Amino acid sequence: MAESTSSLKYMPGFGNDFETESLPGALPQGQNSPQKCNYGLYAEQLSGSPFTAPRGTNERSWLYRIRPSVRHTRRFSNASYPHWKTAPCLDDHSLPLGQLRWNPLPAPEETQNFLEGLRTMTTAGDVLTQVGMAAHAYTFDADMVDDYFFNADGELLVVPQLGAIRVFTEMGIMDVEPLEICLIPRGMMFKVSRIGEGDVWRGYVCENYGAKFTLPDRGPIGANCLANPRDFKTPVAAYEDKETPCRVHVKWCGKFYVTEIGHSPLDVVAWHGNYTPFKYDLRTYSPVGAILFDHPDPSIFTVLTAPTEEAGTANIDFVIFPPRWMVAEHTFRPPWYHRNIMSEFMGLIHGQYDAKEEGFVPGGMSLHNMMLPHGPDATGFEKASNTELKPVKLDHTMAFMFETRFPQQLTRFAAELETLQDNYLECWDGLERKFDGTPGIK
Ligand SMILES: [Fe+2]
Repeated sequence: MAESTSSLKYMPGFGNDFETESLPGALPQGQNSPQKCNYGLYAEQLSGSPFTAPRGTNERSWLYRIRPSVRHTRRFSNASYPHWKTAPCLDDHSLPLGQLRWNPLPAPEETQNFLEGLRTMTTAGDVLTQVGMAAHAYTFDADMVDDYFFNADGELLVVPQLGAIRVFTEMGIMDVEPLEICLIPRGMMFKVSRIGEGDVWRGYVCENYGAKFTLPDRGPIGANCLANPRDFKTPVAAYEDKETPCRVHVKWCGKFYVTEIGHSPLDVVAWHGNYTPFKYDLRTYSPVGAILFDHPDPSIFTVLTAPTEEAGTANIDFVIFPPRWMVAEHTFRPPWYHRNIMSEFMGLIHGQYDAKEEGFVPGGMSLHNMMLPHGPDATGFEKASNTELKPVKLDHTMAFMFETRFPQQLTRFAAELETLQDNYLECWDGLERKFDGTPGIK
């Protein structure tokens, strides 16, 4: 278990070309691949985009490490993580179509680490063509010590909800607490441990099979607000010099494998490049919203977007609902009723979400799939329809959404999860007919 969260160093910026070394002179200057690297290090390139990707989307880093990665994967054995599903995954379950909501995952019955504690709720798209995503929830109560993991199938956006975590990646260490997120690039080795005291560590993960998350264009908003690049933090180089038995676990096209090695694979002493992990504090998000009447679509709260080749049609939007002032005049202020071609998986980090008066609890989840109607519950509708419209600070709240252009397929685990609320639909039961067609009635 890690102790401190304050001593780590980070470099600010989104998509920058960074350089960092944990020993002086470990990073070659003026070239990437010298005949001999200092300290007896090996040089290795890690490419997150095809070599020939346009400059704006070309991502690679150069790692200077104790051993090259070919020494970190020996012969693989098959492994099984039956609760981590990968699209296409048409799980066999009997739950009919519907709007769904869950209370938080129950605490683990047996001690488990982050990797063992991941539970897939939905999958979308197809990992074999590198489109789509999976929404996972996790609980764990043990550190990954000699176990390491990399996911060849996509990057992982981790959203802690309960308990801070330490993510030790090949390119450095990130301490991430609730209200922060972190991103672990596709293919990057890492392990996760707990920070602080507690019984269980809980959160959400979005696995992105498609193009990398990037910052959304701001359009007429201009050069500032929403998620600002300087608030993204990339760790400085850090390494483990450990010569003891270790296991590297891999997910590759939905299947799991494990390989045994005699040392830590987190042995990168220095690196430079723009293919990096990062963390981001959701409290630094600068929301833009309605200042007179009505309100924009929730896309106005997009933190990160994973684009597709079709402009404006995201593989995934990561959207938050942060604290903000509500000032709109003669306006129904909560999210309106709607149906959507995109599919929405939501979670609540803390507080209360403004469209629901009750039932959506921190650590819980909801799924409003393609074209299924949703919106405020009956209590919320009445309150918002009749309240005095003075400026109100919506405070102490942070909900988020993984929204994808693809329908989200429910896993059997999610369909049969004991915390599934069988009365969720009743939240709209009180929305009675109010219509009176008598001419002149208002
Ligand atoms: Fe929605």
